[in-house]
Amino acid sequence: MKINPNFASMERNYLFAEVAAKTAAYQAAHPDQRLLRMGIGDVAGPLPQAVVEAMAAASREMGRKEGFRGYGPYEGYGFLREAISAYYADLGAQVDPAEIYVNDGAKSDAGNLGDLFDRDNLCLIPDPVYPVYVDANRLAGRPVAFLDATPENGFLPLPGPETRADIVYLCSPNNPTGAAYDRQGLQAWVDFANRTGAVLLYDAAYEAFITDPGLPRSIYQVPGAKSCAIELCTLSKLASFTGVRCGYTVFPKGLRRGGQALGELWLRRQATKFNGVSYPVQRGAEAAFGKEGLAQARQAVKYYLENAAILAGAIGKFARYWGGKNSPYIWMECPKGMGSWEYFDFLLCEKQIVATPGAGFGRNGEGFLRLTAFGSREDVLEAAERLGRG
Ligand code: MLT
Repeated sequence: MKINPNFASMERNYLFAEVAAKTAAYQAAHPDQRLLRMGIGDVAGPLPQAVVEAMAAASREMGRKEGFRGYGPYEGYGFLREAISAYYADLGAQVDPAEIYVNDGAKSDAGNLGDLFDRDNLCLIPDPVYPVYVDANRLAGRPVAFLDATPENGFLPLPGPETRADIVYLCSPNNPTGAAYDRQGLQAWVDFANRTGAVLLYDAAYEAFITDPGLPRSIYQVPGAKSCAIELCTLSKLASFTGVRCGYTVFPKGLRRGGQALGELWLRRQATKFNGVSYPVQRGAEAAFGKEGLAQARQAVKYYLENAAILAGAIGKFARYWGGKNSPYIWMECPKGMGSWEYFDFLLCEKQIVATPGAGFGRNGEGFLRLTAFGSREDVLEAAERLGRG
């Protein structure tokens, strides 16, 4: 028997598991120190009240014989798909409920979408970026090439005459740099994909943080995207669902490759490998897209953006940084030419701040560090103060 040899081409640990292990070791050795956790982008919560009430009501409904539900539809309940479709309509994007596939968070589909594609397809992935895209394709044995994202291109690489790819991952607002594509940038990628037959996998997990009204929040706001792009999104960051787990992926009806509708193939794949998201969670997600739930969720997003401004104000006094405006992440240059893990260790040991080393997001992340604004105001103010002490 042989195990998958592609494990050998991956880092030994997943980035955030490595950060968690180092943090736990430091805390065990220094139990009296109060750590400020700004590493993984996990929300401070709580859940919007409308979500809590909807999940509680759905659980009670399931506790009555006439309200009980067993396995749900593989693609998600109609009521949630309709609520998501209405959310898209408010953004100015036309997405039919039948094009929406509910899942347990964007991470799962970001990792699983590769099941649709041949192993020989060339995958183009920005560097730096959320590590799941690279890990998942390495595990599948698929060739990966990188799109350099640097301060020179504002961390928003565009296709050029030499660009070759079958699958392109884009993440906007970007994790980790916070950079967000404008319409022209996305149009360039859509035109590239429609011309070459490539498929764009567009991760919009942080769309709720876009405050600049000129920036698109969905790739479907750009003409031509429905024949070349799959969009992934989640309620994790919009409505504090990191521990509840619910997201969605859009396969437009017009997205066909090799004579097949990709959405139909995806449903075939999901029916084999996925039994859906629980009914109470889908009712909670529906409530998050309701008038009251959305207002409550937007309050939390505003709070995190204020946190980001506080952190950016402190960091701007001693280092260059990006993000923090249309994004909950601040991407900073490590001071004094320090390496990413070196500065990570410095912040952990000298300031008791947990961050994420930029090098963990790719080669171009070396020399940078990511801080998340998804924390309590108390922690953010304390972190700004500790950072300000030099
Ligand atoms: C991050 O910190 O990059 C994210 O929280 C990870 C994730 O969403 O899976």
